[in-house]
Amino acid sequence: MPQAIIAPSILSGDFAQLAVESQRMINEGADWLHVDIMDGHFVPNLTIGAPVVQSLRKHTNAFFDCHLMVSNPEKWVKDFAKAGASLFCFHIEASQDPGKLIDEIRSHGMKVGVAVKPKTPIDVIFPLGHKIDMCLVMTVEPGFGGQKFMEDCVPKVKALRERFPELDIEVDGGLSLETIDQASKAGANVIVAGTSIFKADNPKEVINTFRNKVNTEQAKYSKSVE
Ligand code: DX5
Ligand code: ZN
Repeated sequence: MPQAIIAPSILSGDFAQLAVESQRMINEGADWLHVDIMDGHFVPNLTIGAPVVQSLRKHTNAFFDCHLMVSNPEKWVKDFAKAGASLFCFHIEASQDPGKLIDEIRSHGMKVGVAVKPKTPIDVIFPLGHKIDMCLVMTVEPGFGGQKFMEDCVPKVKALRERFPELDIEVDGGLSLETIDQASKAGANVIVAGTSIFKADNPKEVINTFRNKVNTEQAKYSKSVE
């Protein structure tokens, strides 16, 4: 049964003190750190690249969930592996040959994730589901933190969970105490959140609520398929 994994997005942290912000999130109970890589081409925003991940790696042994919102993700596998990325998640829309890229990421010792934008149908993932560690279902248009959760993406999570009971399914964008129920009931177990965790008065409480809700729904689900 997939367990809850809570992954604060450091995009909502202070980029001038990423090591401090990362440690703060680990202390608050984060399981993974979600690292948003944007190239100003695949998405209309620029963030950080492998050199920053490499610097951050010197300060923590946390699991780096790297979400690459970039064109030509093939180009960056080696650099991210060297930088200490734990998981390399690329967008299906950006890849010419996903099967080959999956093998390439694995051969560099990283876990493999594939992401889908809100308008991309989820059935493009079905042939790959058994070859990957995680599927990221975007619940906002990628590019910026602080956007509104898109409810119409939720059925994609459900369809994926029905087909792949053991897959890690991640949701990213607009997750908060108001939207977690929809995502967790549909079967998501990896929860990315920037604004709702970083800006909370009590991040630990938010993280614990997310975790409890996900684990409750996963337990119900696994009982129903017994
Ligand atoms: C958006 C990024 C997200 C973003 C989420 O393109 O992929 O990871 O940081 O931020 P919130 O939780 O504020 O929507
Ligand atoms: Zn992301």
